[in-house]
Amino acid sequence: MIQLTSPLRFDLNQLIIALSECRDQIRLDPELAQINEPPFKIHLFETVDSTNRVLWDLADQGIAEGTVAIALQQQSGRGQWGRQWQSPLGGLYLSVALTPNLLVENSAQLTLCSAWGIAAALRNYGIPVELKWLNDLVVEKSKLGGILTETRMQSGRVTQAVVGVGINWQNPVPPTGINLQEILKQQPNPQIASLEMLAAIALQGIIAGYQLYQQRGIEVILPRYQALLTSIGHRVTLHHSGAEQPARVTGISATGDLQVCLNGENPVLSTEISLEPGTISLGYDHSSNRT
Ligand code: BTN
Repeated sequence: MIQLTSPLRFDLNQLIIALSECRDQIRLDPELAQINEPPFKIHLFETVDSTNRVLWDLADQGIAEGTVAIALQQQSGRGQWGRQWQSPLGGLYLSVALTPNLLVENSAQLTLCSAWGIAAALRNYGIPVELKWLNDLVVEKSKLGGILTETRMQSGRVTQAVVGVGINWQNPVPPTGINLQEILKQQPNPQIASLEMLAAIALQGIIAGYQLYQQRGIEVILPRYQALLTSIGHRVTLHHSGAEQPARVTGISATGDLQVCLNGENPVLSTEISLEPGTISLGYDHSSNRT
């Protein structure tokens, strides 16, 4: 059985070893013989405001794809929709720079492929991760982590991106959250032994998802993402302009919109609509949702 190491230190050499060890286990697609990761250039920090912000600073000085920032804690961790991401010691806070070249309207695809890549990689290590639209990693209906993708564009195309991931490792979590220690202690043979190993799995997962997306397109990512989506088929109530409307989640569009069927109980009268990320929150009990 693997012994768990202390969360309060981070050994860069251990990360480098874990990156090469987990490359083979994270084979997410038989057609991708193995992950051809960019040469990772890793910047490790004790405390920063936000690893995403740090990478943008480095980007201003000109950085290559595969530059990574990892911090043991963040003082102003950024979450989705301008929220703060609580980032005490014991969690994983990691950002990676990518240089995609995609249409601005497809920018959510970066979150789709990264979220799927991390979830699929963790599943290879026995963690039953599912996805909550658009960017949440979920286990046992509780939030294990989240992804924040930030982009810069030129002439209508996304040319630079920072994919930031926060995963609850050993840190305290809010009532809707769960950390990996809680999950691993229920397992007879836990396979993730350290924060360094978790960082390696997350990093290789992001790169594997991104490479699969680049080589084979969103058409290949989408069904895999949807297969891990918790809310497919769930009934939701949309609150819109003072009225409540029953609906059923049917899927995700290629641009990352949530597709729902209004009047979900009656196929004859039903109408499918798309909701952009941020216009509705699915919550963690799938009961009260708003547009
Ligand atoms: C969410 O709201 O679910 C997304 C949270 C993303 C948090 C990570 S932690 C590393 C990176 N740096 C940040 O400031 N945010 C992301």
